[in-house]
Amino acid sequence: IGDNGLVQQQDWQKRWVSMPKVYLDSSPERIDKFSTRDDDVFVVTFPKCGTTWMQELAWLLLNQLDFERAKSSYAMERSIYLEYSLVLPTLTMDTIKACDEQASPRLIKSHLPAPLLPSEIWQHKRKTIYVARNPKDVVVSYYHFLRGIGVWTGLDFDSFVDDFMFNKISYASYWAHIIDFWRMRNEANIFFVTYEQMKCDLKSVIERLQNFLELKSLNDESMEKLLNHLSFQNMKDSKYTNLTGLLKTTEKTRDDFEFMRRGVVGSYKDELTEAQRQKLDDWTAEFLQEYDLKESDIF
Ligand code: A3P
Repeated sequence: IGDNGLVQQQDWQKRWVSMPKVYLDSSPERIDKFSTRDDDVFVVTFPKCGTTWMQELAWLLLNQLDFERAKSSYAMERSIYLEYSLVLPTLTMDTIKACDEQASPRLIKSHLPAPLLPSEIWQHKRKTIYVARNPKDVVVSYYHFLRGIGVWTGLDFDSFVDDFMFNKISYASYWAHIIDFWRMRNEANIFFVTYEQMKCDLKSVIERLQNFLELKSLNDESMEKLLNHLSFQNMKDSKYTNLTGLLKTTEKTRDDFEFMRRGVVGSYKDELTEAQRQKLDDWTAEFLQEYDLKESDIF
């Protein structure tokens, strides 16, 4: 257990996985043995890769574009965060039980890396959507998030970058998380997409996702409405998708905290110093070298 209260475990490939201690205490076997259904869809990401954006999109596709419900109920109620009650001790709701009780078709969110996800996902090849985002934007977004909600209380941004690289934050290692799914990207039950692709051409991503989910294609008018609903501004303006309000309920949250922050590709360009960029690029190159890959092969 590190001084930040996180437990670091090695997975089967001897890579680090950091999780809050409470996660271990609350028996991850419950997650491992989680019972899945034929029509379940999972949305899996490393934090800050565009999870909420994809959840909103996938939920709408799976629910015949029910904009009424999307505009009147929280995204996190419609699509439950599987392990949330295990990583946030103050959360009274049992999220695993809530998933068990949810009507089908379920869209279940998780940030767990592949080795820690429910075993049945792999046994029964459950449909899984994976969203990846480039590491430099993730480090910036994760810093603002964890600092904003008062979970990370380190010295300065420089030390956060080190914590990110040395897996001293929840769900790290970032690269191990991403690479497992990238390598599975051609499996029939895996939909691998990047935040960057969603920003560049959301319509194509939607069409690809419809195919993956075996749904009928949308007419032009419905597609327009969906694209409009999913815009950054629209999701920022809705309290049902912008989690700022919900997350501001704890005393630790900073006044300037924003969940829907910038929503752009490349925010690192004006938020990281040259030295921080270089450090992250070297770290990335070293990890990917083992797989004979470059960052540009993925993003
Ligand atoms: P930034 O902090 O860079 O702004 P997650 O849902 O995985 O926590 O990811 C949050 C990130 O996705 C934040 O990134 C947030 O602004 C961005 N995001 C959320 N909804 C978005 C949307 N509709 N369009 C673009 N980016 C969005």
